[in-house]
Amino acid sequence: MECRLPSGEVWGEAVLGGWHRVIFGDSRSMREVKDGSVHLVVTSPPYPMIELWDKQFRALDKRIDALWVQMEDERDEWERACIASRIYDLMHENLAKTWGEVYRVLVDGGIACINVGRIKERRRHLPALSKPREDSRGV
Ligand SMILES: C[S@@+](CC[C@H](N)C(=O)[O-])C[C@H]1O[C@@H](n2cnc3c(N)ncnc32)[C@H](O)[C@@H]1O
Repeated sequence: MECRLPSGEVWGEAVLGGWHRVIFGDSRSMREVKDGSVHLVVTSPPYPMIELWDKQFRALDKRIDALWVQMEDERDEWERACIASRIYDLMHENLAKTWGEVYRVLVDGGIACINVGRIKERRRHLPALSKPREDSRGV
């Protein structure tokens, strides 16, 4: 596998020697990857309730999209916050499908590195850091 940098420099050959297969797919279902066949997973998932990823979550799950429309129409601030909380849980429900797959494909003792940032949304800290840990405990 060869990686060419904008500078024209080529790297990767030495580090990534051997045969590699790159799969472009939805990580909620990694059918191509066998059970217990992966030693290391490194991932940076979309963070729930970060504007950049909202559209993607809405496209991934019709329930999120429907609630989003409802939230935008809602005038009452408390009701809006309740809908936002349901959306947040559904976003994590989608991510949890990926964590289930990660667990399935990892060998015993395999390692999963999940990169998540601290999220401050509307003056509130959301538990983006602890949520994947909680969700993966249920796997
Ligand atoms: C926080 S970004 C990570 C970006 C990446 N680290 C990079 O440097 O390009 C999250 C990425 O996950 C992808 N993504 C979101 N849902 C996904 C899914 N179900 N399966 C696979 N990739 C997904 C998004 O398209 C986005 O590229």
